[in-house]
Parts: sequence; structure tokens; C-alpha cells
Amino acid sequence: MKITICKSEHEFNVTAAWRIIAQMLEKPDAVIGLSTGQTTIDMHAIVSDVYRQYPFDVSRITLFNVDELTNLPRAYAGSCYTMILNQIAGPLGIPPENFIMPPTMSNDFEREARLFEQQLTERGGADLQMLGLGMNGHIGINQPGTPFESETWVSPMDPDFEARVRRETQVPAETILGGLTRGIKNIMHTRKLILIAKGPRKAEMVEKAILGPVTTDIPASIVQMHPNCEILLDADAGALI
Ligand code: GLP
Repeated sequence: MKITICKSEHEFNVTAAWRIIAQMLEKPDAVIGLSTGQTTIDMHAIVSDVYRQYPFDVSRITLFNVDELTNLPRAYAGSCYTMILNQIAGPLGIPPENFIMPPTMSNDFEREARLFEQQLTERGGADLQMLGLGMNGHIGINQPGTPFESETWVSPMDPDFEARVRRETQVPAETILGGLTRGIKNIMHTRKLILIAKGPRKAEMVEKAILGPVTTDIPASIVQMHPNCEILLDADAGALI
């Protein structure tokens, strides 16, 4: 496990952005997994800015997100599809067939999960996953307690997050919301993982996840077992390391 602690939030954003750009330049048909959330907005903007100023060939790059919300419209501003499209896939002009996302609406999410994995496998599997860290140690939407052998599935949402989504959408109260997320096993099969976190509120969880025991109570702790994993932090998130 390699640990990189950046001096400032800005240095973190730039460093993380260049990890993505470097992967694209090194392997022009790379399959790259992203994460949504506050941690990644600025780094995606930097990737898009660099691309606008110094365009390079992205016609064979595949992008996907580690998870997606279920049972709400794809056009909802908080869907992972819409966020990744607006933040990075759109600005880079990634061909739509190379932007692999499960649908947000389906009668059969188990099938969608299999299809999502199948599409990634057909492209040679994921080369890189920029992996966000939840406040409770979740990765993707795999909440504490999720078995490490879990394969891409629909997980219940964290209750606070679900409450926010319900406030922001017109989804009827009886509709069950969830998140289709790559399973922990699938995430671990990625060739390179970069666990990313910034800000003081993540410091305690970063310490537990990377210095504590590997336990399903903290899904992110499994990255300690990955053979090619970098922990990329800003000074605040790395304060207890
Ligand atoms: C959500 C996403 C995760 C993301 C996490 C961190 O739960 N489903 O993929 O890693 O948020 O979010 P933030 O960066 O806003 O702290």
C-alpha cells in the first residue's frame, strides 16, 4: 500500500486528476472507474480543463462509475449517470457506447448488475478505480457488514443519504430506493485502486480503514489486501496517519 498525503486540498485535487489523465495517456483503451460525491467534483473539473486545453485521444477510453442509484429518474441531478456525464464524460466527449452505466430504472436489477459486469469484463476488466470513502467506511454503496465476497448488487442506501434523495426527487414514498454498486469482490479485482479522501471529517475513518484491522465493519479496510493500491489524501484527511 502506497500512501500519498498532499499538502493542500488543491494539491490533492490536481494529483488525483493527474492519476486519471496518466492512466488515459498510458493506456488509450483503459477502463476507468470513477466515484461521485464532494471528493471528486474538483478533480473531475481539472481533468476536463486539462483536456480542453491539451486534447488527447479518448476515443477508446471506457468510463464507468462504481455505483448508481436505483428507482429514480436517470435525469435526476444526483444520479451518478448525470453527475459523471456533466462533470467528465461529456466534457471529454467520451463516446456514449464507452460510458458504461447501469440504468436507474429496471424491473430486474440482478440482471442489470450482471450485464454491467459483463460489459466491463468484455473490455478487459477495470484498470483503475478512483474509490471514494464513505463517512462510515463504505466503498461504492457497500455498507458496513457487507461480505467481502459480495458481487455487484443492489444495496440499501445509507438512511441520511436516502432522506436527502427523497427531499430532492418526486419519487413516491412507497418506492424503495437503493444503490446498484460494484461488489467488494469486483472492486478488489480492479488492477489499480486509488482510495481518495479529503477534508478533516474523513481523518478518523481514514485512520481506521488503513491502519486498523481488516474487517467487514469497515468495508474500505479491505483495500489493505490489494496488491496495487494507493491511498491518496489531503493533509486534513491524512492528519491521523
Ligand atoms: C456516496 C457514493 C460513494 C462515494 C461517497 C463519498 O456514498 N455512493 O461512491 O465514495 O459518497 O462521498 P463524498 O465524497 O461526498 O464524501
